[in-house]
Amino acid sequence: MNLVKDNPTAISEIVNLFDFERLAAEKMTKMAYEYVASGAADEFTLRWNRQAFNAIKLNPTILTDVSQIDAGISLLGLDLPYPILIAPTAYHKIMHPEGELATVRGAGAASALYVVSSFSTTPLEEIVKAATQPLWFQLYVRDDRELTKALIQQAEGLGFRALCVTVDTPVAGVRNRQDKARFALPEGVNTPHMPGGLAEKKPFTWKDIEWIRSFAKIPVLLKGILNPADAEKAVEAGASGIIVSNHGGRNLDTVPATIEALPRIVEKVNKKIPILMDGGIRRGTDVLKALALGATAVLVGKPICFGLACGGAEGVTKVLDILRHELEVAMILTGKATIAEIDESVIWK
Ligand SMILES: Cc1cc2nc3c(=O)[nH]c(=O)nc-3n(C[C@H](O)[C@H](O)[C@H](O)COP(=O)(O)O)c2cc1C
Repeated sequence: MNLVKDNPTAISEIVNLFDFERLAAEKMTKMAYEYVASGAADEFTLRWNRQAFNAIKLNPTILTDVSQIDAGISLLGLDLPYPILIAPTAYHKIMHPEGELATVRGAGAASALYVVSSFSTTPLEEIVKAATQPLWFQLYVRDDRELTKALIQQAEGLGFRALCVTVDTPVAGVRNRQDKARFALPEGVNTPHMPGGLAEKKPFTWKDIEWIRSFAKIPVLLKGILNPADAEKAVEAGASGIIVSNHGGRNLDTVPATIEALPRIVEKVNKKIPILMDGGIRRGTDVLKALALGATAVLVGKPICFGLACGGAEGVTKVLDILRHELEVAMILTGKATIAEIDESVIWK
């Protein structure tokens, strides 16, 4: 008899983030599942994001005092109880009828910071009303710069604490799997803050970052940096932080895993601004590895979507609780009582 169920049939049977994906695959429409799970083209980068984490080995230290551990960090003026954020992902109403409202409640219950996507299917005001934790806003810069400016100012007025400007998507990637699933928003689901979708024609360059910074009152982070030279430019452009990301393998296939790109960017940025990263984080040990290689915090995308699909707010909370717990266990087992103590010594060389 097999005592370990590989395919959970209820959220109570879930013990790790991979279980969420298996259960979500059963629960979601095929179109929604394919939208969330797929990467660009041949999905090399999507797989590398995971394989690169798996290839890194840990080097534990024994007999240190880990009776009291603290996973808290401070990030751009916020104190967070653990360094895991909700990455911005689009269209939550195709994953669960309560959409972003379930996500924000789930984030609240897990004390996590939620980065809300420009492609929210719920008006920002409603998300803010349901929030009990700080929120950041992810921005796609539109051809219509006045509309872009109005959106930034709306987010500021609503109390969003930082802006993550996505810089890796002048066009969406070659999404073969999404196309095969004939992805389209169902009737009644729309994106109130992105009428008309992406469809950018006007150049979007470093000048626009300067322009945003000229009036933005909240910190501006650049999301989607992989090239160390771009990271250096981001510092020069006055970014308050960068997010090392390959868009979860959804944009340019065959770019490296983010955990592979991270150390070179850390070296170039040289502690001038915080560096966040996302892509393939599924285990507490992945979070530990990212921190050891110089990230201040990480974000998770697909697992949150699957948690939302499996159990609404409760599913989102459970994803975060599992990951946080796994990180804390990894800290104890590597002999690190605080986040500040996590450095390259935990990586086996
Ligand atoms: C379904 C889905 C939708 C996404 N939508 C957005 C978006 O609207 N804006 C954005 O900047 N990134 C978006 N991303 C990228 C995520 O913010 C993040 O970079 C990526 O999912 C991290 O990798 P992971 O899914 O392996 O955790 C999306 C990712 C997924 C999976």
